[in-house]
Amino acid sequence: MTNFDPNHRPVLINETLEFLAPKTGESVLDVTLGLAGHSRAFLEKIGTGGALTGLDADNDNVQTAQENLEEFAENTTFIHTNFERLEELDIGTFDIIFADLGLSSPHLDNPEKGFSIRADGPLDMRFDRTAGPTAADWISSSTEEELADIFYRYGEIRQSRKLAAVLKTDKPKTTFGLNASCEHVFHHKNASFLPQVFQSLRIAVNNELHALEVLLRRGPEILHSGGRIGIISFHSLEDRMVKQTFKALATPEIDDRTGAVSKEAGFELITRKAIKPSEEEVEANQRSRSAILRVLRKK
Ligand SMILES: C[S@@+](CC[C@H](N)C(=O)[O-])C[C@H]1O[C@@H](n2cnc3c(N)ncnc32)[C@H](O)[C@@H]1O
Repeated sequence: MTNFDPNHRPVLINETLEFLAPKTGESVLDVTLGLAGHSRAFLEKIGTGGALTGLDADNDNVQTAQENLEEFAENTTFIHTNFERLEELDIGTFDIIFADLGLSSPHLDNPEKGFSIRADGPLDMRFDRTAGPTAADWISSSTEEELADIFYRYGEIRQSRKLAAVLKTDKPKTTFGLNASCEHVFHHKNASFLPQVFQSLRIAVNNELHALEVLLRRGPEILHSGGRIGIISFHSLEDRMVKQTFKALATPEIDDRTGAVSKEAGFELITRKAIKPSEEEVEANQRSRSAILRVLRKK
């Protein structure tokens, strides 16, 4: 049995296909396979002459994606890895590189993975459960200052110091334990702060911003001439990194003395503005509400 749900619409799918414009015979690198919704759409466009390489840090998702894409077996390669390792992998070059950052629905649906606010489970939160400390370990081994810093930076939580102090005392081991600790800090406003607390911990545990930094450095290097890189991000920290990097790559160098262009930019912005989901999409899929797509093309 596969997890393929023909009614599930991948986030910003029409916009992704419009701006990345996959063509017959092209090669695609999807660094966040998930359940392979976007990958499937790419494979349908690139046809039997094309090839797709898919990565995911979560091995369960790699297995599911592989099952969901069974009919494309001859054109697909799957790798269980974090794209943070993109510079070490000898992975080749591509016409399209795509990332749909963050969590997939099985992460929230399976309490054992420790991402869910609504169901109790071990406080894990690792995309890759074969490596690195869990969120519970991470809380235990970090200093109070480090914890406060991530809640402030990744969650914009104003009571970050108080929360860090409570967590260092409580050392929660389960998602409901974390929930209870947060209640001591936020009281009746707990429900509205929990998503930011969970998100901040998740970003820290999976070193997500560092992985994005690597993708933004290595991705443009391994694009063919004419190739496109598209990234869907879900919060302002990620989007700022994507926006600034893409803008810098698409900006020509100017001679300070003459004011003339001394070196043409090697890339051009395909999306001049952030691409966001339609009202209909947000209504049908709440998770899409903070999605932002940006696409860059190599000249
Ligand atoms: C939003 S989901 C992708 C959904 C997918 N586009 C689809 O249509 O089903 C993000 C996926 O990326 C994976 N992921 C997140 N960060 C990663 C990283 N740094 N390296 C590899 N995989 C990552 C997660 O495990 C998750 O499966």
